[in-house]
Amino acid sequence: MSLPRLIVCISGSGSNLQALLDATAAGVLPAQIMLVVSNRKAAYGLVRAQQASVPTLYAPLKPFLESGAGRPAYDAHLAAQLAPYAPDLIVLAGWMHIFGAAFLDRFAGKVINLHPALPGAFPGTHAIEHAFAAWQRGELDHSGCMVHYAIPEVDAGPVVVQALVPFVADDTLDTFEARMHATEHRLIVEAVRRVLAVQP
Ligand code: GAR
Repeated sequence: MSLPRLIVCISGSGSNLQALLDATAAGVLPAQIMLVVSNRKAAYGLVRAQQASVPTLYAPLKPFLESGAGRPAYDAHLAAQLAPYAPDLIVLAGWMHIFGAAFLDRFAGKVINLHPALPGAFPGTHAIEHAFAAWQRGELDHSGCMVHYAIPEVDAGPVVVQALVPFVADDTLDTFEARMHATEHRLIVEAVRRVLAVQP
């Protein structure tokens, strides 16, 4: 029986991609990563993919903006590049680009996104820093992270799985961030298992 086929989209360090690579290699996530896509050439996640012998695709937005074709043309072009891989699931793991309908409609119900905040809280970039600042102001006693189905809105859509990350006395941004990332690394694997309905 062939394993479910994943594509992972990244823009940066790729530590969540690494969690998926490790889980698939260890067999605790019965799936196969067919391709890693980055919209940033220097993203370290591309190195992680190459080290794991996973094919990579660098897909910059800039040429589409400079030519006037725009974001919908980029989304349609990238969707056309990914379609031949016949993905069962596309995982946005630190992917810093909001896909519109031209991409999402082509893979309906097959795109999930990881975000380091709870549903409705701190969409967009720097969610961890925003939550930490809110805790320092006494406005929060916990944050968390979630994986949700992607919709054309930023960090919103039906939730697959979420986890609370409480603040603790003497937290610094570094200690809080480390707990957040550790939680994300567990959550992203769990989310893929749930969506694909697979178990180790
Ligand atoms: C993760 O914390 C992820 O939740 C966040 O980017 C980081 C990527 O880390 N995503 C967002 O903020 C989406 N709005 P990684 O490259 O080490 O996996």
